[in-house]
Amino acid sequence: MHLPLLFAGLSFSGLTYAKSGASASATLSSSMSTSSGTLEIPQGASCACTKLSHSMPKSVIFPGSKNYTTQTVDYIWDIRANLSPACVFVPNTAAEVSQAVKIINECQANFAVRGGGHMNYPGANNIDAGVLIALSNLNAVNVKTDTVEVGPGLNWYQVYSALEPYGRACVGGRMKTIGVPGLTLIGGFHYFNNKYGYAMDNVVSYDVVLGNGTQVTATKTSHSDLFWALKGGANNFGIVTRFELKTFAVPEVSTTIQVYNETHLPQFLSAICESAKLDEEDPIAAGMIATIAYNVTTKFANFTKIPAEARINNVTTIKTWANALDSPKQMFRVQFSHKSMKPDAKVLYSIYKAWKAAVDTISDVQGLYPTFVINYVSPSSARVAKTNGVGNVWGLEEEPLIIWQFSTGWDLAQDDIRVEAWSRQLAEHFHSINKQLGIASEFVYMGDAGEWQDPYAGFPVENVARMRKIRSTYDPAGVFSTLSWGGFKLGL
Ligand SMILES: Cc1cc2nc3c(=O)[nH]c(=O)nc-3n(C[C@H](O)[C@H](O)[C@H](O)COP(=O)(O)OP(=O)(O)OC[C@H]3O[C@@H](n4cnc5c(N)ncnc54)[C@H](O)[C@@H]3O)c2cc1C
Ligand SMILES: *[C@@H]1O[C@H](CO)[C@@H](O)[C@H](O)[C@H]1NC(C)=O
Ligand SMILES: *[C@@H]1O[C@H](CO)[C@@H](O)[C@H](O)[C@H]1NC(C)=O
Ligand SMILES: *[C@@H]1O[C@H](CO)[C@@H](O)[C@H](O)[C@H]1NC(C)=O
Ligand SMILES: *[C@@H]1O[C@H](CO)[C@@H](O)[C@H](O)[C@H]1NC(C)=O
Ligand SMILES: *[C@@H]1O[C@H](CO)[C@@H](O)[C@H](O)[C@H]1NC(C)=O
Ligand SMILES: *[C@@H]1O[C@H](CO)[C@@H](O)[C@H](O)[C@H]1NC(C)=O
Repeated sequence: MHLPLLFAGLSFSGLTYAKSGASASATLSSSMSTSSGTLEIPQGASCACTKLSHSMPKSVIFPGSKNYTTQTVDYIWDIRANLSPACVFVPNTAAEVSQAVKIINECQANFAVRGGGHMNYPGANNIDAGVLIALSNLNAVNVKTDTVEVGPGLNWYQVYSALEPYGRACVGGRMKTIGVPGLTLIGGFHYFNNKYGYAMDNVVSYDVVLGNGTQVTATKTSHSDLFWALKGGANNFGIVTRFELKTFAVPEVSTTIQVYNETHLPQFLSAICESAKLDEEDPIAAGMIATIAYNVTTKFANFTKIPAEARINNVTTIKTWANALDSPKQMFRVQFSHKSMKPDAKVLYSIYKAWKAAVDTISDVQGLYPTFVINYVSPSSARVAKTNGVGNVWGLEEEPLIIWQFSTGWDLAQDDIRVEAWSRQLAEHFHSINKQLGIASEFVYMGDAGEWQDPYAGFPVENVARMRKIRSTYDPAGVFSTLSWGGFKLGL
């Protein structure tokens, strides 16, 4: 079976990778000095780090070691999210995760949990002066007949690599090093969504460590309420130590990279809107990554050099394809902002033009790297959850949606507030125009959203109420709401 994939974009350029490390240099004491100042270590974190290092000494890392930098910097995608935990706990088993959560509870320590490290804002996957639970060693993978069991320390390239010898694939991430857990817990946009639904719709079992350290397995028949809540409910319910995912016979995929110059943009946007609307009963699994890059210095000069269009067709495996699409960590500071709308190519084009003009107003920001990214929800992708007897927290109707996003990179911390304000104001402004036009949707995808956005406000109110009820059953003490406060939290 050959499945067509389309990578369409104005830009597909090699990205250079500038590494900047925070240098923390202190062992456990009441304060630690970091590149960004002195941090006071709270009593709770100090207590938890001491207890963790007594009970599981091989799994605890303190500031000042190379391993500490690996865990707190190298694993993190957005430079803004490089923080300085009091200690890093790197569990080797689910039982160690359970023990750690009990200790963290006893000490009432603040903590953060990190999988693949891609969520791009401070606090989502790292913490200053608290405990970081880094899941990198929970990287077991077990291929079964039509499922695969995966640990939360894996990235999608590793999962696709394990499946390749069996001629199988699963619904995961599109780029090489995105983590399994974060993406699966928030939804999961992939090329196969239109046929198989989102990554979350393809999880058949979750092993979870709850807020009191108890381990449970959630499936369609056991802890079925928790099973539902984990399908899009992010990091509000526990730490997932193993996912079991459905796999499909996909020995090869057909891929196309197309690059267009700006002249073709209206057609390009219109083609994206049309594919979002496609609604077939038995669709071929196919999807795209659509990005528009605007080089403020050259004003698209690189693309105008391209005579008509570049097109590269390949038939390859999903592993090889994912390998070609890397997103290096620590590349830049990044701000995401996104909103959703009904497909309307003309409006989308007007947003693009206004965005481009707005980019020119911040062209003095050092290292400015502005891209306009488009994803979409197709009716058939929403139908999967409507008809599988489980559903997910999104509760989307079988209607096409365009997810338009600004992804803005830059170099210096001094520009953080300026870029965030710029990006947020722009997104909210266009969204308010779309509301007046009657084409706005309140759906917000956590993977494309900025820290200033509230994705829960876009889910059906009854689903949010149900999530809160499930949270009060499984985490009555609010461990994953108050002690772990980073990332997209449901709110108290
Ligand atoms: C370059 C790039 C490309 C992307 N491409 C895609 C794409 O193709 N499709 C798509 O859907 N999304 C995409 N995303 C968004 C991506 O899905 C999210 O950033 C996601 O959070 C990444 O997962 P992670 O494990 O790497 O993240 P992390 O930052 O490690 O984790 C994300 C959140 O989940 C929590 N968490 C992590 N592991 C666990 C666990 N085991 N139990 C409980 N909570 C946990 C963390 O505490 C954190 O709050 C992309 C992001 C980037 C930066
Ligand atoms: C533009 O081209 C130059 C060299 O021709 C290259 O260095 C640069 O990275 C390119 N920029 C983009 C955005 O592709
Ligand atoms: C620290 O790094 C070394 C070398 O990479 C590795 O063998 C060891 O397991 C690491 N320790 C921890 C606690 O992760
Ligand atoms: C884009 O490509 C077309 C040919 O496909 C060419 O006629 C046009 O001049 C190009 N536009 C720009 C801005 O380079
Ligand atoms: C696609 O094909 C080109 C040549 O046809 C080859 O150079 C390239 O490596 C291939 N890329 C992938 C991802 O398979
Ligand atoms: C923009 O183009 C200039 C000149 O080619 C290049 O130096 C710069 O790296 C490009 N910027 C980005 C973000 O690619
Ligand atoms: C842990 O929490 C779960 C969910 O609230 C509860 O069912 C279980 O009894 C608790 N276990 C202990 C040991 O308190």
